[in-house]
Amino acid sequence: MSGTMALEKKITIATLNKHKAAGEKFSMLTCYDATMASIQEAAGVEVILVGDSLAGPVLGLPDTTGVGLEVSVTLTAAVRRGAPLAYLVADMPYLTYTSPAQAVANGGRYVVEARADCVKLECDRRFVDTVAAMATAGISVMPHLGLTPQRAGQVGGYKVAGKTAAGAIQIIETAEMMVEAGASALLLEAVPPDPARMLTERVSVPVIGCGAGAGCDGHVVVTHDMIGLVPGRVPKFVKKYTDLATPMQKAFETYVAECRDGTYPAPEHGYPMSDEELEALRQWAKES
Ligand code: KIV
Repeated sequence: MSGTMALEKKITIATLNKHKAAGEKFSMLTCYDATMASIQEAAGVEVILVGDSLAGPVLGLPDTTGVGLEVSVTLTAAVRRGAPLAYLVADMPYLTYTSPAQAVANGGRYVVEARADCVKLECDRRFVDTVAAMATAGISVMPHLGLTPQRAGQVGGYKVAGKTAAGAIQIIETAEMMVEAGASALLLEAVPPDPARMLTERVSVPVIGCGAGAGCDGHVVVTHDMIGLVPGRVPKFVKKYTDLATPMQKAFETYVAECRDGTYPAPEHGYPMSDEELEALRQWAKES
């Protein structure tokens, strides 16, 4: 597939650093399969995230705590095959990075088996040693700060982070500690625009915002939300660019109706036999 905005060469962390230095914003979208990945790469999406948000759209789970390591690594490898040029980030699932050693062992699988460029961990400052161990091992890490959905059960829901000065300072200081520990990039979820902008300006690595205002270096949303594939409400920061569920449902309904009334398949959808072979078959049927 080719498009006017298609990626033409491999996006690396150096590319993203250059974008940050030049003040050029970039995009990131979630993706969980090779087909979607190739469409996103053709559209010029620089960074693709195999988020644990796959819990809902792919696995039908109510939250992200049920996503397993094996399915996540498998889908990351599939996305890489569909998008060889994008900077590929994989979300490490719940309870797969509870110690530095476990994080290095599991994080390494994304790089070695799935060819991911970077792994993302939902973090607070207690994870500095983990981030340092991964960076030392040669794994690019993107700490995810602010709202961390894997901890929704512990904090009583999905809450905007950094709304008070003290809360914002804590996030900014944590971000600085993570960069010091060797983080390659940062992701900030559901943080008010002012602290997000301040943080972005203070750190040397690219900062990707998810509901964190316009001041971040790049932006991410869940693809299924922005293309209208999920029923019901989407987070406030999501802009719906299209509504694919409606034409998809319409196509399925038409297919169902045509299967039922015999319109589908028509002769052009089959594999014809020559008249001669058909005649031979009919002769056999008559005689058997
Ligand atoms: O899992 C995910 O898709 C994410 C994004 C929403 C940032 O973490």
